[in-house]
Parts: sequence; structure tokens; C-alpha cells
Amino acid sequence: MPKATEPDRLVAAALEARSQAVAPYSGFRVGAALLSTSGEIFTGANVESASFGLTCCAERVALFHALSQGARSFRAIAVVAEADDGPMPCGACRQLLAEYAPNVRILICDSRKPDRIRRFRISQLLPKPFVLARVDSASS
Ligand code: THU
Repeated sequence: MPKATEPDRLVAAALEARSQAVAPYSGFRVGAALLSTSGEIFTGANVESASFGLTCCAERVALFHALSQGARSFRAIAVVAEADDGPMPCGACRQLLAEYAPNVRILICDSRKPDRIRRFRISQLLPKPFVLARVDSASS
């Protein structure tokens, strides 16, 4: 049997993470797995709230998981859900990835077809992220 490649292993971790999704309102279960440059994998799944706007996407859960464990640079993120061609990250997640994981390879997969991986860069998905201008507090 051929050895699993790094993308395959990351997709497998995202599929496993997806099994912990808390999605009682939408029923749309998403898993994410973020690989740091030191080789650690941090996973996340979407968590929904009855106050729908509080819902947090799988990508953000994985990113906050990694950041809160001290990881600061990232190689790749896999995102999986049962969706034709896989789930594309939402705008909020794109912004956060642009800020904290600008060089990350984004691997998107339909959970039913884990060997069909679509690849993106954050610069393609969010070419112009928000950047906070420095404000001189004395002049405001
Ligand atoms: N969701 C994610 O986890 N990632 C995305 O990129 C898009 C949407 C979740 C949020 C919510 O729990 C469900 O999918 C339906 O929007």
C-alpha cells in the first residue's frame, strides 16, 4: 500500500475532526485540520449556537486552537464537508487565515471523495484582506 501523503493525512485529520461537529441547526458538519510548519496538526469542527450569529466555523476553531497552543506559522489547512466540490471557507475565515496563516495551502474536499482535493492559496480567495491602519492616538 502506498504511503499516505501529507495532504492525505491532513484531509484524514479533518474528516476525523468533522465527526465532532456540533451542528444541530444547520446539520452541515465541517471539519478542519491545520498543519504548522513544525509538523503539528491542530483540528477543529464547526460549533453552532441557538443565537445563530455566534456560530463558529471549523476553520476558525482549528486556527484558534493552534494559536492558543502557541503555534504561529502554518503550512496547510484541510477543510471537509459533505458538499459538491467541498466547502469553500467563508469571508470571515478567509480574513483570519490571511492575517495568521498567509502562506497556508488550502485543501478543500467533499467528505465523500477525500481523494479529490482542490487546492487554493489565501491570496486567491481573499486578494485584499482588511489591514488595520495605525492610528496616532494623540491626533484622534
Ligand atoms: N461553516 C464552516 O464551518 N466553515 C465554512 O467555511 C462555512 C460554514 C459552518 C458554519 C455553520 O455551522 C454551518 O457551516 C452552516 O453555515
